[in-house]
Amino acid sequence: MAAKPPRYLRPILAIETSCDDTCAAVVTADGGILSNVISSQARFHERYGGVVPEVASRHHLELVNAVVDDALREAGIELRDAGLVAATSRPGLIGALLVGLSTAKALAAAAQLPFVAVDHLHGHVAANFLEPEPLEPPFLCLIASGGHTLLASVERRDGFDVLGATRDDAAGEALDKAARMMGLGYPGGAAIDRLAREGDPGAFDFPVGMRRGDSLDFSFSGLKTALVYKVRELGTEGTLSRRADLAASFESAVVESLLLKLEQALDMAGARGLAIGGGVAANSLLRRRVTDLCERRGLRLKIPPSVLCTDNAAMIASAARFLEPVAYPEFLAFDAFARSAA
Ligand code: KG4
Ligand code: ZN
Repeated sequence: MAAKPPRYLRPILAIETSCDDTCAAVVTADGGILSNVISSQARFHERYGGVVPEVASRHHLELVNAVVDDALREAGIELRDAGLVAATSRPGLIGALLVGLSTAKALAAAAQLPFVAVDHLHGHVAANFLEPEPLEPPFLCLIASGGHTLLASVERRDGFDVLGATRDDAAGEALDKAARMMGLGYPGGAAIDRLAREGDPGAFDFPVGMRRGDSLDFSFSGLKTALVYKVRELGTEGTLSRRADLAASFESAVVESLLLKLEQALDMAGARGLAIGGGVAANSLLRRRVTDLCERRGLRLKIPPSVLCTDNAAMIASAARFLEPVAYPEFLAFDAFARSAA
């Protein structure tokens, strides 16, 4: 029997359960994805119009072992062939995080493997380091999802610096709330994206948050309030008949605020490369605008495939490659945290 390769050359098993997707993945030491299994709970949360933390934790508990088994099977390896186990430990829903973290710690302990705790936001950044065509730092990275909106300066692979973040709602959260007001279901970002193509982005003049000043922070609550008033003014019938124009104008204001701060950050940081991630990176208007921006400024652009932009465990494994592994039993004391350390 051939000798096993050293641990640092063996694949990484990672688990991600920070919100409502139960995810496990196996990634090689040089960033090749062997498997990336995602079990979405969206249909369980749809009827509540948002993620219910306790419901999410319970589903993670029911799904996590099967999802890990699938990830190992698809990768064609057994747990003992892995060199490292990783899990998201922050930020996220505490109960949800604890399920993935405890599972990963137990697997690492049972197989006598080292363990790495990963910050979810570092994971979104590290999605850009996966094969094929990984993006080399330095670059600027916009993460826009249902839970987060931030601009990161990425100068190394083991972390990043936050240049700006949302002061209230995340971009995806604002889109989801808008979709709900327009009766488009949950999560509604993709529905707004589709509907906006039939509408006029100039039909309604919605405010772009943080337009003035040097801050690289975002704000979407004023925009959301403007929509509440507009929907009230239009009434149920009026809202229904103007839905496409509302979607197009609202989407345009969200994308405008993201682009505004991106351009400001590019002016300030002078980055040569740009990456976008998080569920909102699937938005067609944002993709178009970011592509134009990069062509105009001669920047390298990386938009990972949608499945690596939304929550997944391959990005967690990717981040783990650049962090210091912790040996058994020290990692047993690791805890989950609702907030990011970044
Ligand atoms: O990254 P993600 O899957 O989960 C979180 O960490 O939140 O992001 C989900 C968010 C939701 O708010 C959803 O409405 C939004 O991404 N989203 C979109 C699109 N597809 C998903 N927003 C705009 N346009 C889309 N095509
Ligand atoms: Zn995320």
